[in-house]
Amino acid sequence: MEIRKVAVIGAGVMGAGIAAHLANAGVPVLLLDIVPEGAEDRDALAKGALERLRKAKPAAFMHRGAARLVTPGNVEDHLERLAECDWIIEAVVERLDVKQALYRRIEAVRRPDAVVSSNTSTIPRARLVAGLPEPFAASFLITHFFNPPRYMRLLELVAGPEVRPEAVEAVAAFCDRRLGKGVVRCKDTPGFIANRIGIFWMQTALAAAIEQGVPVEEADAVLGRPLGIPKTGVFGLADLVGIDLMPHLMESLLATLPPGDPLRAVAEVPPVVARMIAEGYTGRKGKGGFYRLRRDDGGRLKEALDLASGAYRPARKARLESVEAARTGPRALLEHPDRGGRYARHVMLRVIAYAAALVPEIAERASAVDEAMRLGYNWRWGPFELADRIGAGWLGEALAADGLEVPPFLARAAQAGGFYRVEAGRLEELGPDGAWHAVPRAPGVLLLRDVQRRGEPLARNGSASLWDVGEGVACLEFHTKMNALDPQVLAMVRRAVEEIPARGMRALVIHNEGEHFSAGANLGLLLYSANLALWDQIEAMVREGQETYLALKRAPFPVVGAPSGMALGGGCEILLHCDAVQAHAELYMGLVEVGVGLIPAWGGCKELLARFARGGPRGPMPPVMRVFETISLAKVSTSAEEARELGYLGPDDGITMNRDRLLAEARARALALAEGYRPPEPPTFVLPGPAGRVALEMALEDFRKQGKATAHDVVVACELARVLSGGETDVTAALAEEDLLALERAAFMRLVRHPDTLARMEHMLETGKPLRN
Ligand code: NAI
Repeated sequence: MEIRKVAVIGAGVMGAGIAAHLANAGVPVLLLDIVPEGAEDRDALAKGALERLRKAKPAAFMHRGAARLVTPGNVEDHLERLAECDWIIEAVVERLDVKQALYRRIEAVRRPDAVVSSNTSTIPRARLVAGLPEPFAASFLITHFFNPPRYMRLLELVAGPEVRPEAVEAVAAFCDRRLGKGVVRCKDTPGFIANRIGIFWMQTALAAAIEQGVPVEEADAVLGRPLGIPKTGVFGLADLVGIDLMPHLMESLLATLPPGDPLRAVAEVPPVVARMIAEGYTGRKGKGGFYRLRRDDGGRLKEALDLASGAYRPARKARLESVEAARTGPRALLEHPDRGGRYARHVMLRVIAYAAALVPEIAERASAVDEAMRLGYNWRWGPFELADRIGAGWLGEALAADGLEVPPFLARAAQAGGFYRVEAGRLEELGPDGAWHAVPRAPGVLLLRDVQRRGEPLARNGSASLWDVGEGVACLEFHTKMNALDPQVLAMVRRAVEEIPARGMRALVIHNEGEHFSAGANLGLLLYSANLALWDQIEAMVREGQETYLALKRAPFPVVGAPSGMALGGGCEILLHCDAVQAHAELYMGLVEVGVGLIPAWGGCKELLARFARGGPRGPMPPVMRVFETISLAKVSTSAEEARELGYLGPDDGITMNRDRLLAEARARALALAEGYRPPEPPTFVLPGPAGRVALEMALEDFRKQGKATAHDVVVACELARVLSGGETDVTAALAEEDLLALERAAFMRLVRHPDTLARMEHMLETGKPLRN
């Protein structure tokens, strides 16, 4: 069964977001909501949702065209159109009666082979199908997306024994490959996996903070970064998702939670929170939450809520010894005697014990629980991975010392030495039965971290490694902070160019599993050299980068870039030199050098010129104008699809929705290119010369007059104009790649000596933001 068209019913927060993401996958979507009473426009709700989606931040659509795939409508006039759909997703209010009434109406019109699913967070599937016709139940699943649906990777999938297997498999495969989700199969238990544990974590943390008098900043400082949890911690997260949502979720969960469940003990809404909700302090969408920003004489003051008095006070940065201690690992945090350490110990002992007691009730495997928390709550480690970092034995003793029950699964892990182990290069997990099992991977998934478990790299230095990823393909991995590029990374690129033919290998993929592919050249290093006036060294590094990227491009084997996240500056330039790119759909790619007062000088100007000259309008000026605009405005894509619109990706470059499939798809691409591979012919450039430069400078002058360009913007853009127009070239002459590299290098060297450029670099390193000087 193929899913070609989808309906989403309920155009609220979730339904709208799910519809947008289906459109991101290129699937036409029907988005229906009710007809508002007395409405002139009967589609007003779905249309309004579509309007909000267009403006959503972070963006719900990956590109402008996607919005056109969503057709708004209503459940009175357009219900029969459900017959066109292969999958019908219900995302209406969390009420059993409303949902069931809707299911009856859907059942009357859907095609027999169509799948229906609910996005419910808390109502068990068994309750949803109770009393409904058998054919409906056989086609009904729970597909639980997380908010926001484009960005949160978890999809919890619940089926039942009566469900047609092909329906389950079709939806699972579609969510995995087309929507890019990590599909975690859950049992039909309250709150499934992620919210069951996540809500217990939040409620426990809230209750303990009140009881122990821990300020919200301190609570978030310990229950955040030191534990691999996003820095929003607990209170920042509650502000983000909406504080009013919590009691609803709790109430609905309590209706089905087993009688002795530990969540019941922390379920109560504390008076301070009830008051916040009643008065509209529901978080970022309301008047404020546990934190708020107060505008004060033009300035902005961050305030935090005092949990005891319920009043706001200026926020304070938490300074805790326990957080310092956690640099050596999470156990040091839990062992530390200060207030933060005691609090973290109280909360996390209970959370890990809770999770351990719920396997196999909520999931067959510990790894499913870990994956759900990683993908659904953005934890770096799920509770069992975290337990292994802390030490299962230590946890068992700590629980006993605090008078808490040690769940049998945790006791087993303490004996076995942990929940996970690597055996013969393969990752295994402990089952609740006490036996070891391979951690499953979906077919077609190739993870660099699995390759790394199997053995040693082909080559390695402090900044990069070269791995054998099978079938004659090597993978070049950066592993510096933010995957910044430095001389050692360049050295490893060179090494790859030599090693691959020497070893009889066939192709290279450039990929890593960091959050970001690369933030660009190491700016700290550059600024350090500039401050010491080591101009020759800087020039040598620019030249080294140019020559290295050129060697990569001219290598006798194909090179495929496989980026995810940010690919900026030098990280963007290396991709421009690849034969092909297989990009993760979430790609933030751009030549951003002007932000630090520089121009791309590792071949970025040259490659973009070559690209825009190919297939574009004839004549030297159009590609020059386009590159000038792209680089001088430091355009960065907000998705891979947009990177294609901006011209950073070519029409033949591929996009992979599921990050876990990126390496495998890049490898397949590289192997396809390896058949009869010949390196590309070096391009030549016909550029407009000084006349073209003058035209660009005039356009620039207009910008400056309109206040769109600062004084130093003009200096940088003039240097860019000189490079792109070909310097002093004559319009009849053809320039070689090397000529353009020389122009890039000369412009870069003039700029890097400029005090305003140095000020921009310093500011960027200190604040992470560009300086507008
Ligand atoms: P919402 O309140 O934002 O939107 C619900 C929408 O359903 C409204 O636009 C409403 O007009 C419409 N609706 C109500 N009855 C309808 C009917 N009979 N036919 C058609 N439309 C109808 O709710 P939200 O937050 O989007 O939640 C929807 C579902 O997703 C719920 O089951 C909820 O538990 C679940 N969920 C919510 C998450 C969240 O973070 N908000 C996360 C994951 C799941």
